[in-house]
Amino acid sequence: MATMGLLDYQDSQGTRGVLFEIGVCAGRYFSVLMRSGHRSGDPVIGLDPFLWIDEATVNDRLHANVPGAPYRFINAYSTAYTARTLLDEFDGKLARFISVDGSHEASDVLWDLRLTEEILHPDGFVAVDDFFNPVAIGVNEGVHRFFNNPRALVPFAMFSNKLFLCRPHKLESFKKAIAEYAESDQSEDRPRFFIEHRNRGDKAIEQTLWGTKFYSFG
Ligand SMILES: C[S@@+](CC[C@H](N)C(=O)[O-])C[C@H]1O[C@@H](n2cnc3c(N)ncnc32)[C@H](O)[C@@H]1O
Repeated sequence: MATMGLLDYQDSQGTRGVLFEIGVCAGRYFSVLMRSGHRSGDPVIGLDPFLWIDEATVNDRLHANVPGAPYRFINAYSTAYTARTLLDEFDGKLARFISVDGSHEASDVLWDLRLTEEILHPDGFVAVDDFFNPVAIGVNEGVHRFFNNPRALVPFAMFSNKLFLCRPHKLESFKKAIAEYAESDQSEDRPRFFIEHRNRGDKAIEQTLWGTKFYSFG
């Protein structure tokens, strides 16, 4: 729901670009990208070697559950791509949203984040899944290795297992957008917790990572 809120915010700003996921699996999160692409007309592209569920089965499920929403799969490992060859696949368009949820090996996560940094639209954002997952700890190592050097990305929110990133100049805009989403969705625990603690003046909702203050939803 938070991702949908952020994508809707992006739509309201008129940001156009590819919606891209590394690691589609059965397409659960991918269907959120499809919803947004169906509305905006932006290309929706998933990259996955389909190690766990075969591509035909995923296609059948998506056609049944999100009928009529266009998308495209690239059946490959992300490590087979550079930023240049990915942009060729995107017809030169930058990505306005990237979900990083492929391999959990630290070196692959580092690779995926380097790709992401190069192909993200200036007003785009990124969701890195499993940042806090103890049984996918390579993601945590890969992200820390990435931020060990100066980067053109900063964290703006942490929400359950997902770490959200954007370009430094968009930090305050995306923090405001996710806080507005939280205000609008008080039926869910995390947004309710965030707003309650913010209204109480609890400084714990704003944490610092790699020198950037971001919103933590727990
Ligand atoms: C955790 S699942 C993705 C879950 C999906 N994003 C969701 O939320 O429903 C991980 C997927 O990454 C794929 N994968 C593994 N290594 C990969 C790589 N190097 N590049 C791209 N995808 C990869 C696997 O085939 C698997 O489908």
